[in-house]
Amino acid sequence: MRVELTRISKEDESSLRIWRNDPAVSQWMYTNHEISVDEHAAWFSSMLSDATKVYWKIVVDGHAVGSIFLTGISAQQQQCSWGMYLADQQMRGKGVAQGACALSFQFAFTELGMQKVLCEAVAENEIAIGLYESVGFKRTGMQRDAVKRGNEMLSVVTLEITRDAWNAHEPQLLQRLEEKGVSING
Ligand SMILES: CC(C)(COP(=O)(O)OP(=O)(O)OC[C@H]1O[C@@H](n2cnc3c(N)ncnc32)[C@H](O)[C@@H]1OP(=O)(O)O)[C@@H](O)C(=O)NCCC(=O)NCCS
Repeated sequence: MRVELTRISKEDESSLRIWRNDPAVSQWMYTNHEISVDEHAAWFSSMLSDATKVYWKIVVDGHAVGSIFLTGISAQQQQCSWGMYLADQQMRGKGVAQGACALSFQFAFTELGMQKVLCEAVAENEIAIGLYESVGFKRTGMQRDAVKRGNEMLSVVTLEITRDAWNAHEPQLLQRLEEKGVSING
């Protein structure tokens, strides 16, 4: 399997809304209402013109299967936030997410010169947290009932990966991807 990241462009607008509205994805997000065409269009155009955000689609053997993104990119603080999802459930559990993580970290640390990448997950999202730890993120905290979503309060685990931690972890992850038959080299 070959995993690539392609920058999101106007032609991806409708797929991104379909993916984000899929309950298998939205159940793990801080908002899970059905996003309307208008709400999505406003968010999408502001995202495309926002220099602090980089959104990619995750492409596996030519098929777009999900999205991965950097937000809050700060050259001054040399850090950004990060997130991802795989919308195609057939693609889960095969190392695709790990491959996409590696590509996004290479971009964040090498191209953008970030020193730190931060992320958060709903505390019950054990698969995501397991994935994040497998690619080198370390837990930095747990905030109970930090996010109100409708009638529920979500607890949140915070994680980070530094540039040094990524440099130390990268060879191990690339080895794991090779074992899984996942190629990330152009
Ligand atoms: C989170 C998500 C991206 C993971 O994708 P995936 O394809 O299953 O992940 P991969 O196959 O690339 O990575 C597998 C790694 O995740 C970890 N993992 C997988 N299942 C796990 C589980 N049940 N418990 C703990 N860790 C798990 C393992 O470390 C595994 O690595 P290993 O096989 O080398 O041990 C995907 O499940 C998803 O999109 N979920 C819905 C949206 C979402 O939760 N996004 C994150 C929001 S914070």
